[in-house]
Amino acid sequence: MLANIPATQTVIEIRQPGGPEVLLPATRPVPEPKPGEVLIRIAAAGVNRADCLQRMGRYPMPPGASDIPGLECSGTIVRRGDGVSQWSDGDQVCALMIGDGYGEYACVPAVQCLPVPAPVSLTDAGGLPETFCTVWTNVFERVRLQAGETFLMQGGSSGIGITAIQLAKAFGAKVLCTAGSDEKCRACLDYGADVAINYRTQDFVAIGKEFTQGRGVDVIFDMVGGDYIPRQIELLAREGRLCFVALMHGTNVEADFGAVQRKHLTITGSTLRSRTEVQKAAIIRALREKVWPLWSQGKLRTCTFRTFPLVQAAEAHRLMESSQHIGKILLVP
Ligand SMILES: NC(=O)c1ccc[n+]([C@@H]2O[C@H](COP(=O)([O-])OP(=O)(O)OC[C@H]3O[C@@H](n4cnc5c(N)ncnc54)[C@H](OP(=O)(O)O)[C@@H]3O)[C@@H](O)[C@H]2O)c1
Repeated sequence: MLANIPATQTVIEIRQPGGPEVLLPATRPVPEPKPGEVLIRIAAAGVNRADCLQRMGRYPMPPGASDIPGLECSGTIVRRGDGVSQWSDGDQVCALMIGDGYGEYACVPAVQCLPVPAPVSLTDAGGLPETFCTVWTNVFERVRLQAGETFLMQGGSSGIGITAIQLAKAFGAKVLCTAGSDEKCRACLDYGADVAINYRTQDFVAIGKEFTQGRGVDVIFDMVGGDYIPRQIELLAREGRLCFVALMHGTNVEADFGAVQRKHLTITGSTLRSRTEVQKAAIIRALREKVWPLWSQGKLRTCTFRTFPLVQAAEAHRLMESSQHIGKILLVP
């Protein structure tokens, strides 16, 4: 056990559902790790869209989730619960969490921790687990993107988008993406996209068809939904797959399901937070084995856009909701 663990810590509470101003510092006890858990002294926590929804009272919380937001962090293991043998005190890790990232200390199941990859700073590592787990489990496990296939990422400049662009390229796909400005499109190209489409001025269906000589794209990874759904069904190739992780434009839509049948399409989606510890551990294991080696091969880059002190969590949420960021926003205690 490392010394100097205080009895209490500063966390960010959601005082009541509302705007960013409801995110306020509070004092809470530093928790004790239960069997199978580690206590992490947090170096940085990623801010995710889901935190904004949780703050507004619009996120259906899984049972057992903490009221403190924060789905990922990096930091140093300072205490271990019974049965934790794979990590030592002092190890630097990043971790997928069900909550509690917006604090100075948090307990996390040991199986949901990953080592900080060698070329990545401890701070930047705080923005890795949520996007890498989400992209891996959806794009590579659920809809099984293959080398040589064509992949379209909607929202390419988001934390999720930049991670997906890099992983799809690293595993041999041809990558198209959409983003809301020319500056965001340039960033997507810089992270490896073959084509970046400014959806405010260009038609992603027309460009996707042109790029594939009319065949259509094999996999679309989407966070927009709504009016995009019929257009995506139109753009998909035979045996194409469409996977949702969010539906920002809405969940109810009229679409031509005849095309789903004719083209043998698969339409699916998932949420990460609601999964069991066993399911999350399996994703973490796969990442460690198949993706983490890519860091030392120089095939991946972090995408931290800005860090804020933890107590300025409200400012961090304002930036995320302005959609002016490219990549990840982090909170540093
Ligand atoms: N299901 C899951 O397991 C899971 C896990 C993690 C994340 N997610 C979801 O994945 C999405 C990306 O997450 P993130 O944390 O990476 O967030 P983020 O960086 O804020 O990305 C959101 C992106 O969506 C675009 N956008 C924002 N408002 C929009 C609107 N009203 N209509 C269309 N596009 C809009 C923005 O780009 P433009 O300015 O270019 O439009 C922005 O790049 C979020 O919706 C999040 O909830 C789901």
